[in-house]
Parts: sequence; structure tokens; C-alpha cells
Amino acid sequence: MREKTTHFGFETVTESEKTEKVRGVFDSVAKKYDLMNDLMSFGIHRAWKQIAVLMAGAKVGSKVLDIASGTADLAKKFSTIVGQTGTVVVSDINNEMLKIGRDRLIDGGFIGNTKFSLADAQALPFYDNTFDIVSIAFGLRNVTDQRQALESMLRVLKPGGKLVILEFSKPTSKLIRELYDHYSFKLIPKLGQVFAKDASSYKYLAESIRMHPSQDSLKLMMRDAGFVDNSFLNLTSGIVAIHSGVKP
Ligand SMILES: C[S@@+](CC[C@H](N)C(=O)[O-])C[C@H]1O[C@@H](n2cnc3c(N)ncnc32)[C@H](O)[C@@H]1O
Repeated sequence: MREKTTHFGFETVTESEKTEKVRGVFDSVAKKYDLMNDLMSFGIHRAWKQIAVLMAGAKVGSKVLDIASGTADLAKKFSTIVGQTGTVVVSDINNEMLKIGRDRLIDGGFIGNTKFSLADAQALPFYDNTFDIVSIAFGLRNVTDQRQALESMLRVLKPGGKLVILEFSKPTSKLIRELYDHYSFKLIPKLGQVFAKDASSYKYLAESIRMHPSQDSLKLMMRDAGFVDNSFLNLTSGIVAIHSGVKP
């Protein structure tokens, strides 16, 4: 049987090719990932992440799974909130990214309530009904089968548990869309070339943002995967959106 195809940026590829190519992107960018995030977003990604964590509503003692944690920005914030009676599982499919996240957490003293897991969002290696909160920031776009990933997230959440997705989305005004397109297609690959010696990974970044579902489409995907109370909040004129949904 022919393998299903999907997209890697603007390219059509087989599903296994996409997984390999995404791995290649994050192997390549891992060491410069934090620097590039600050440069490309002028530091605004920090505020977006803070808002996503607040929206998750974690409490002392909560069990949190952060998927596609990368360099662990969200996990650090959750670790402080849930305290020593809570747990934050820091997970990523990519060992290079996870290693950096783990080192940052250990160096920052975020220990005792953090655990690490090399895990694919599409097949989460956790028991059903385990977590109060599942989060994924700037990760879903890179996942090959997003429906499968959403179902896996639903499975590991406890009933009443919340999923929070922070992801690039569709700018709400035509002017912002045009400026943003120019910035992402013309300038971001150049920044990638200068600071990370890798224009093509940053070209993929711009293309993958364009290919990602709109706010309304992702909300419907969450509903179809079985989440209820689905809603989203646009930030920075819809350049990013935070979606949330609850396991019934
Ligand atoms: C843009 S980074 C986001 C890192 C971090 N969450 C942040 O907000 O800075 C995307 C991450 O998604 C991870 N990723 C890609 N596909 C994945 C999958 N199927 N399952 C889990 N993580 C995945 C990559 O390895 C990478 O670390």
C-alpha cells in the first residue's frame, strides 16, 4: 500500500519523510533555538508562553505533561506553580532538544518535580487519565498526524483535565498578514542564515506557519478529537493563538 502524503512546509512528502525532515530541522537548530526565538519574536514569545501557562490554570499539586517541550520554557513556569507535590513531565520527540531542556531545568534548580520523556505526541507513552493539564507550544504544527496527536492527548488527560495549545495562527487583519508574510518569508530565513547558519530550517518555519490550520479549523479539530468547551484567544493580532479544550 502507498504511504499517505502530507506537507513539510510547502513540499508534499510521505508521512515518514515529514517525521525525518522535522527531526533534521530540530537537530540542526537545537543549539541556537533560544537565541533565534528571542531574535525572531523580539522577545514576545516569552509573554505568549506566560499567558498560555496562566490559561492552563495549573495549581499546587497538578500533574502536567508538556509535549514538544524543546528547551523547556513552559515546563520551567509549570514547575514553579505546581510545587513539590506536583509533577511536570517534560517531553519531546527529539533528543537534542530534550537534552537542552533537561540541562536548563537542572541548571536552573527546577528539580524534584520534573521528569523527562522522549515521546512522540502521536503515541504518548503514558497511562490513560494521568494528567490534569497537557500543554504543547509551537509543537503541533510539526506533528505529522495532528488528529492522532489530539486523540493521544485526550487519552492521557484525566476527565475534566485541560489541553492548552500555543501555536502560530492566522493574523486577523489584511495589513498585519501582508507585513507578517514579508517578515516571515523574506527576513526570517536571512536571520536563520546569519545567526544559526541555516536558512532552510527557517524557511520551513515560515512555510509551516502558513500551512497550519486557522483558529476555527483547529477548534473544530479539537472538537472532532473529543474535546469540549473548546475556545481560542488570539494574541498579537492572531499571529499566535492559544486554544484550550477540556476532556469530558
Ligand atoms: C518549535 S519547537 C517548540 C519548543 C518549545 N515548546 C517552545 O515553545 O519553545 C517544536 C518542538 O516540537 C518537537 N516535535 C516535533 N514533532 C514532534 C512530535 N511528533 N512529538 C513530540 N514533539 C515533537 C520538536 O522536536 C521541537 O522540539
